[in-house]
Amino acid sequence: MIVNKIISKLSVTLILALINFTPQLHAQELKSPNGELILNLELDSKGTPKYALSYKGKAVIESSDLGLQIKDQPSMIEGFEIEEAEKNEVDKSWNPVWGKQKTVRNHYRELKIKLVQPEHNNRYIYLRFRLFNDGLAFRYEFPKQNTLNYFVIEEEKTEFSLAGDHKIFWIPGDYDTHEYPYTTSKISEIPEKMDGATVNINAQTPIENLAIQTPSMMKTDDGLYINIHEAALTNYAAMDLNVDPDNFVFSAHLAPDAVGNKGYMQTNTTTPWRTIIVSDDATDVLASNMIINLNEPTEYEDTSWITPMKYIGVWWEYFVEGKSTWAYGTETNVKLDQDFNKLTPSGRHGATTAHVKEYVDFAAKHGIDAVLVEGWNIGWEDWIGNWKENVFDFTTPYPDFDVEEVNDYAHSKGVKIMMHHETSASATNYERRLDRAFEFMNEYGYNSVKTGYVGQIIPRGEHHKGQWMVNHFIHVAKRAADYEIMINSHEAVRPTGLHRTYPNWLAQESARGTEFEAMGGLAPEHASILAFTRLIGGPMDYTPGIFQTDLSYYGDNQQRVNTTLAKQLSYYVTMYSPLQMAADLPENYERFPDAFQFIKDVAVDWDNSWYLEAEPGDYVTIARKAKNKNEWFVGSMTDENEREATIDFSFLPEGEKFVATIYADAKDASWDQNPQNYTIEKVLISSQTILDKFIARGGGLAISIKEATENDLNQLDSVE
Ligand code: NOJ
Ligand code: CA
Repeated sequence: MIVNKIISKLSVTLILALINFTPQLHAQELKSPNGELILNLELDSKGTPKYALSYKGKAVIESSDLGLQIKDQPSMIEGFEIEEAEKNEVDKSWNPVWGKQKTVRNHYRELKIKLVQPEHNNRYIYLRFRLFNDGLAFRYEFPKQNTLNYFVIEEEKTEFSLAGDHKIFWIPGDYDTHEYPYTTSKISEIPEKMDGATVNINAQTPIENLAIQTPSMMKTDDGLYINIHEAALTNYAAMDLNVDPDNFVFSAHLAPDAVGNKGYMQTNTTTPWRTIIVSDDATDVLASNMIINLNEPTEYEDTSWITPMKYIGVWWEYFVEGKSTWAYGTETNVKLDQDFNKLTPSGRHGATTAHVKEYVDFAAKHGIDAVLVEGWNIGWEDWIGNWKENVFDFTTPYPDFDVEEVNDYAHSKGVKIMMHHETSASATNYERRLDRAFEFMNEYGYNSVKTGYVGQIIPRGEHHKGQWMVNHFIHVAKRAADYEIMINSHEAVRPTGLHRTYPNWLAQESARGTEFEAMGGLAPEHASILAFTRLIGGPMDYTPGIFQTDLSYYGDNQQRVNTTLAKQLSYYVTMYSPLQMAADLPENYERFPDAFQFIKDVAVDWDNSWYLEAEPGDYVTIARKAKNKNEWFVGSMTDENEREATIDFSFLPEGEKFVATIYADAKDASWDQNPQNYTIEKVLISSQTILDKFIARGGGLAISIKEATENDLNQLDSVE
């Protein structure tokens, strides 16, 4: 035994020594488990690390620099030597608390490189690469050492040198908002399109020199799909990408803090992962689990209180009707310590006890889990645009909203009230009041909260995407877990797979969502781009389900939701989230009960998912199996062009018959004409069935599938 150990130790030392003295050490190669992706890493003559990535022999990333510019200390850009290189392969499966599938496989090959700077007292860092079958991830690691304890990042210098002038789906780089509409162009066309793309958004800080945001989705002329993003963004600023439109090179651009610094680091620490998903099949991009795999497993011991759910809300009426508002009083200058009973009521306050009870009744009747109530608490009179620190207290209801009565009523009917904490981006105020706010929620039986960060951040000078706010959002998620509270954050930094680590952080908005349909409208292709961009990082609270799409129905509102009704149904499958809103007014669902049935039936947690058809900006077709239930759901959406979706049901178990209820666009429907014309048909299908189905311009398709009963077998027609 001992001899064996000595021999094996000796051989390890030998191998290491060999590595140390081989010239090849300065040029490393790593292959993905299936060999299709190849990473090359080398040091150039200045000692700068450079990496390159190819897929099936085609260049994806050409030789690109790695490194970091450090403030008041030597940079970590050149003068490196490779001292060690270590390879490793991992293939493990794990089960998320909730997700697109019950079991996630995490299979990659890893290369860890020790980079030493002899000129700086042998200061060293590690570069860790993970190569999956569907992409590459890498990060910088900074071990604790005498010569490296604290440092401040001036800029991360990571580059992504693309092999051509690819087609790209992009939004302008910005330190504060992700709520831009998408522009599709060549990389070289970004400069001429940037002005037009930078539409006005509340509290925006567009990056001055040409930059775009991640997740960044590209398609090459020869059919490769490339997606650049990041994973596990903790204690670091979010990464946008500078664009060199002539050479097709992107480089990291971190969001700065109030004094212009980009990151305060203390060893032992790491950067987030930089991710590049690659495939020649667009459905692989949607199916990728790379980002969630790169996040840490949760440390929560008990997760039984975390439950995917559906909700309705006193919400859409604020956007379309103009009859009700968040605010109670007519004044526009209020202080939290004044008596709100003495305000002059506007008569338009939405969150009244009586009105919320109507929503509760509707939820109870239709099996919806929760009712979001916005505008229940004091402070809405002057919440926006004043950069006001003490804007909300999160514990004092308006005079006409009885917290106890509403919650008791809801609970007696098996419904939860969803708390709303709009912070108005005053994060300092929220942090001060957070524990009291969560105690209040526990006291009345709220188990979830929608948070919001509309406006310019306080501490003033900080940004939604800077390190300080990144840490704030995580702090809120962790603190909420102490109180067994689930979070749905709006206007937070876009997700990077942290829902694996903090599974009570159910969903985020962090993109241009349905509310913009009532503020100018979304392009019919918008959702089919979001599926490949924003949703790559994690679930989105897109707030689908608008049946009354022509908003002139409400009187003066001349806007419209640019989809058919059937497309709204498709979102419950195509726009993955464990938290799904039925966003329209209850009365509109009462008008279309047969279509609403799909929203009632559709699952929010899944055993498995199949990505059947996809093309960014054009269409997406996905099938999913409900968790622990023999029920399947299919969603398909298209852009402004009509198409025929092909649904291959081979994901179903073999040898059985199933009933498919198909919710489809009528022949004369489109997003701008007869959007509410749909058909519902029930047919028998099997795993052999392949269905071609018409989808209208701006339309969609939704299918629910159950095992067939005797009755079904006798009465329904089969489709082959
Ligand atoms: C913006 C959110 O996205 C929206 O859903 C919410 O109603 C408003 N902020 C007010 O908090
Ligand atoms: Ca398109």
